Amino acid sequence: MENVSVSDEPGSLPYDAPAGDVTLRSYEAGADAYLQQSPPPGTRVRAYLDQLADLVVAGTVLELGSGPGWDAAYLESRGPRVVRTDAVNAFVDLLLAAGHPARLLDVRVDDFGGPYDAVMANAVLLHLSREQFVDVLGRARCAVAHHGVLAFTVKEGDGERWSRAKLGLPRHFTYWREPELRSALEANGWQVLSLEHVTGRVEPWLFVVARADEKPRRVRPVTDREPGSPMICPPALKPGGRRASAGPSWSS
Ligand SMILES: C[S@@+](CC[C@H](N)C(=O)[O-])C[C@H]1O[C@@H](n2cnc3c(N)ncnc32)[C@H](O)[C@@H]1O
Repeated sequence: MENVSVSDEPGSLPYDAPAGDVTLRSYEAGADAYLQQSPPPGTRVRAYLDQLADLVVAGTVLELGSGPGWDAAYLESRGPRVVRTDAVNAFVDLLLAAGHPARLLDVRVDDFGGPYDAVMANAVLLHLSREQFVDVLGRARCAVAHHGVLAFTVKEGDGERWSRAKLGLPRHFTYWREPELRSALEANGWQVLSLEHVTGRVEPWLFVVARADEKPRRVRPVTDREPGSPMICPPALKPGGRRASAGPSWSS
């Protein structure tokens, strides 16, 4: 978990690439700096991971954006097996060098695989646009088994910002409020189990745990979805934002 001081740069500076790409480039170049400034999880994050471990027991958790891998190590000490992933080569290499299986996975475009007992993303989805975030909620729902769990944390607030804290390089953050998070979760097949407001060192956070709802799902391009129709399992977005045609996928 990280805490950053927020710059007052506006949310849409004219970088030469999409905000998510600029952010990933910064992590790639600043992975060592991030590692040095990101200690293992403290009491509050450990309690959150304990909550997840109690739900998953000895099941498998897909971790999105593992970064240095502190949370995965703690979670595995509690029983679950963790599939470590990140979109940044430097973090995946670090995890592999430490003896953990790990793979490159960009949550914006890559398939999650599954089914897993849970999907976890601690301080990761805050780097997505609102549209990308909602897309991930739907694909995470399709990547979990019956009664699967989703656990993620985001920063609480309004709008979006760039920050050079920690890395000295630009990272983009999208802020969330409880009501919009609840609506997005419920619309994408998740029943909220807990949504906690957590005081950070610099900014407030929202810690969310949700469980897959009971509604039936089927595979169909996301754009075909009618309001109130069954939950669908969209394929991953392809680079450039184009969605691959719907193919066979796991279905509960
Ligand atoms: C603030 S760090 C959190 C790392 C770790 N989860 C933790 O709590 O220590 C954000 C992580 O998200 C990863 N990340 C950012 N954008 C991503 C994307 N599009 N797909 C996958 N990982 C991403 C970064 O590489 C970084 O490891």
